[in-house]
Amino acid sequence: MRHFLDLWPLPSTELRSILDNAKSRKAARKELPRGAADRDAPLAGHTLAMIFEKNSTRTRVSFDMAIRQLGGSSLILTSSDSQISRGESIEDTARVLSRYVDAVMMRANRHADVLAFAEAAGVPVINGLTDKSHPCQIIADLQTLEEAGVQLAGARIAWVGDGNNMANTFIHGAPKFGYSLAVATPGGYDPDMGDVERARGEQGRIDLYRDPKQAVAGADVVVADTFVSMGDKDADKRLTDLGAYKVSGELMQLANGGAKFLHCLPAHRGEEVDADVIDGPQSLVFDEAENRLHAQKAILEWCFR
Ligand code: CP
Ligand code: NVA
Repeated sequence: MRHFLDLWPLPSTELRSILDNAKSRKAARKELPRGAADRDAPLAGHTLAMIFEKNSTRTRVSFDMAIRQLGGSSLILTSSDSQISRGESIEDTARVLSRYVDAVMMRANRHADVLAFAEAAGVPVINGLTDKSHPCQIIADLQTLEEAGVQLAGARIAWVGDGNNMANTFIHGAPKFGYSLAVATPGGYDPDMGDVERARGEQGRIDLYRDPKQAVAGADVVVADTFVSMGDKDADKRLTDLGAYKVSGELMQLANGGAKFLHCLPAHRGEEVDADVIDGPQSLVFDEAENRLHAQKAILEWCFR
């Protein structure tokens, strides 16, 4: 069973094959309407169920279009209108859905629930974001950087802001893809320090800073994300504590010339990033959003390889 739950268990060669497949599938269907299947339709007859315990625009639509373009179909459950919200266990839900569908994508509040779901499932399970990680997103992010000419091995990527699920996922990717990561967070907003140690143990270079200027100095890529993630209850405090970590045009100037800007979206202009950065020439955010579709297809195909 091939689950896509985090980058950790996948060797670099497998991750490289997913990234390359995302690029080649994107190139192979350039002239097709978006609703048409890829010519080889490798997942014809397959159905993906998607469970959402949290909101989504990109993940929901890109996975839906991804499975269609691979020749299959999808269905969507929200926890509020399924029996999950009435207390049916994650494990029973996994066992039952595994009798109906060929794969499950789950966006969960708690990372442990996706792991428990995968453990009980009889079909591949994909992590569509948890409080701990968002591995589908980083495949799209790294695809976007490579398409923009960034060579990942040896690149310097700066993460500025909250040490959240996306920060953790950039940490996971460092030893796999060979970029070095500079993370700038205020005290109390550190990324998962267990993940930092694990990445370092796998020869990943992770440098932690409090000062965003230090993190961004010499960076080829600057990454921001919302200061208030889904599930965070303390919005006002977060906006205050993280205010000095906004990616402004001035901060971008400290990065290497031509540095790229990424943000997984949704964005809050004027909070974690200024409009002139996210809407400016260094920003790749809409290519990044598009690449969720292509990356998802490569992840789905990998699950069935
Ligand atoms: N980036 C991302 O996962 O977006 P959604 O929350 O809209 O799915
Ligand atoms: N860190 C954000 C990412 C959204 C795609 C969140 O978890 O809400």
